[in-house]
Amino acid sequence: MSNFNYKDYIQDHLLNINGYKSLTYPKELSDFIKLDGNENPYGPSNKVTDALSNRNDYQLYPNSIDELKQTIADYLNVQPSNIVCGAGADAVINLIFSSLKNNYDDMQLATITPTFGMYKHDAMINNIDIDELEQEINYRPNGYYFDVDAEPQIALIFASPNNPTGQIMEKDSMLKLLDKGHMVIIDEAYIKFSQYQSYVELTKEYSNLIVIQTFSKWAGLAGLRIGYGIMNEELASTLNAIQQPYTITNYAMEAAIISLNDTEYLNDNVKKIIETRNNFINQLVDITNITPIPSEGNFVLCHLNKGANTDFHKFMYDKKILIRIYSDAILAKYARISIGTTDNMQKVLNAIEEWDKK
Ligand SMILES: Cc1ncc(COP(=O)(O)O)c(C=O)c1O
Repeated sequence: MSNFNYKDYIQDHLLNINGYKSLTYPKELSDFIKLDGNENPYGPSNKVTDALSNRNDYQLYPNSIDELKQTIADYLNVQPSNIVCGAGADAVINLIFSSLKNNYDDMQLATITPTFGMYKHDAMINNIDIDELEQEINYRPNGYYFDVDAEPQIALIFASPNNPTGQIMEKDSMLKLLDKGHMVIIDEAYIKFSQYQSYVELTKEYSNLIVIQTFSKWAGLAGLRIGYGIMNEELASTLNAIQQPYTITNYAMEAAIISLNDTEYLNDNVKKIIETRNNFINQLVDITNITPIPSEGNFVLCHLNKGANTDFHKFMYDKKILIRIYSDAILAKYARISIGTTDNMQKVLNAIEEWDKK
């Protein structure tokens, strides 16, 4: 027997990390209404599924990413050299974090809480200290505000719209941070569902701004894992140079390119989701025991005015409706419900009405 102890080899900060709790759902979903992952209920364009079913190149490594970058660049009116692609926005965020200095005297990272759990997770695995500024969970018409007086410069990451609160980040607040020279990363995973404009255009003016987007939500491609960041050319070049090769499959690349050439279909679905979301929020107004928070995303965070979130989750699960609840104290009285098809949201509402009267 050797005396091998893995702790002698693994970096200390990695030893006690509880992995990110990813979704676990029944393999056979046909009976279920899946509203726990902010996925797109309409799926991708039929042109995507047709094209992918005709591919037969499993044995090949993925082809160059240049065509995809050019297509995204044309779509967003930026240059391909401004783009870094990754296997989901998740991978782009982790790539950025992995490149940040992790000496606390040089660099700090900040965000708000509650927000997307991967920011904290990625900070931890990259040994970066992350400050989470608590935000009240309520609706603010101009979005949430963040200010900081820090020296030295820090990097900040915000989801706008934010998951799970559905709020955007106030533009003035972001401009202030940019003018102070901080590195600001805006995660626009849900921007298509928002009435507010993307900040991609601002990346031309601010070399310290990075905007992240994904095909997971509006294009219905969460399972194919494809996202990207838009940023100044030098930073993009550095990140592209340290990127693992071949993390984006030919399937994901083709699906993304076809999606950008079939935006009419996808935008119609986005419109349907927005309408369904707004109706759902209006219908919840009559429910005593649930208070919805107006949302700019394809989900609604609901305050539970009675019972434990686990009881509500179980009640909905027994009705074959999957929703998201959280173990964090700040979200103990909330549940997040993704927006499904109109028919399915009626079933959700019926279930909630029943729960309300229980
Ligand atoms: C704010 C936010 N950013 C990024 C992601 C992940 O996106 P992707 O599927 O492209 O990795 C999510 C997923 O839920 C999210 O909520």
